[in-house]
Amino acid sequence: MTLIAPSILSADFADFGRQIRAVEDAGADWVHVDVMDNHFVPNLTFGPPAVKAFRPHVKTLMDVHLMIAPVDPSIPAYAEAGADRLTAHVEAGPHIHRTLQAIRDADMQAGVALNPGTPADAVENLLDLVDLVLVMTVNPGFGGQSFIDMTAKIARIRAMIGDRPVHIQVDGGITPETAPRVTRAGADVLVAGSAVFKGGTYADNIAAIRKAGDA
Ligand code: DX5
Ligand code: ZN
Repeated sequence: MTLIAPSILSADFADFGRQIRAVEDAGADWVHVDVMDNHFVPNLTFGPPAVKAFRPHVKTLMDVHLMIAPVDPSIPAYAEAGADRLTAHVEAGPHIHRTLQAIRDADMQAGVALNPGTPADAVENLLDLVDLVLVMTVNPGFGGQSFIDMTAKIARIRAMIGDRPVHIQVDGGITPETAPRVTRAGADVLVAGSAVFKGGTYADNIAAIRKAGDA
C-alpha cells in the first residue's frame, strides 16, 4: 500500500499542533517536515526548536527533509529535537556518505534526496546507508509547484535498490493525477502538501492520493 506523508509546509503556520494531529487522524502514515535555510534553497521555514515542539503531536513518524547546507553541524540538534528520520540532499555538500553515517550514528533513520537535475547514479554508492531515497519532482524551496516527470529516474533507482529495505519517496506536485505515474515507476511513499492541505477534507484528500497511488 502506498504510504502518504503530508507536508506541513502547506499547513497554517500558526496552528501546527492541531493540524499534525488532524492529518494523522485522517490517515497520514508519516508527517513530513520541510526544513529550509534560505541558503541551500531560497526559502526559510523552521529549525530544531520547532521540530522539538512538533514532537509530542506526532504519533506516527516525524520525517524531516533537510534543505540545508551544511548538514553535519545540525545533526545533534535534530536528534535531540526528536526527529525519527533525517533526509539530507546529495547536493548539500561534498561528503554525503559521512553525513548519512552521522545520522545513523545519532540513532535516526537516514534518507538521501536528489534534486531534479541530479542523476540516479548519485545514490548508487549510498544505498546500504539509507532507509529512504527521496526523488524530488520539483526544485525544492516552495510548495504548490508543478510536477516534473522523474519516472525514469525512479525506475532506475528501484532497480538499483534490488531487495534492500529502502523506500522511494517522491516529493513535489503530487496529486491524484501524478501519484500513479510515480508509484508505477517504483515509488512507495508520496509527500503531498497542497493536495492535502488546500481545500476539501484531509481524510478525503489523503484517501484520494493513496487510492490513485495504489491503482
Ligand atoms: C518542496 C518541499 C515539498 C513541498 C511539497 O521544497 O520539499 O515537501 O512542500 O508541496 P506540494 O505537494 O504542494 O508540491
Ligand atoms: Zn519535502
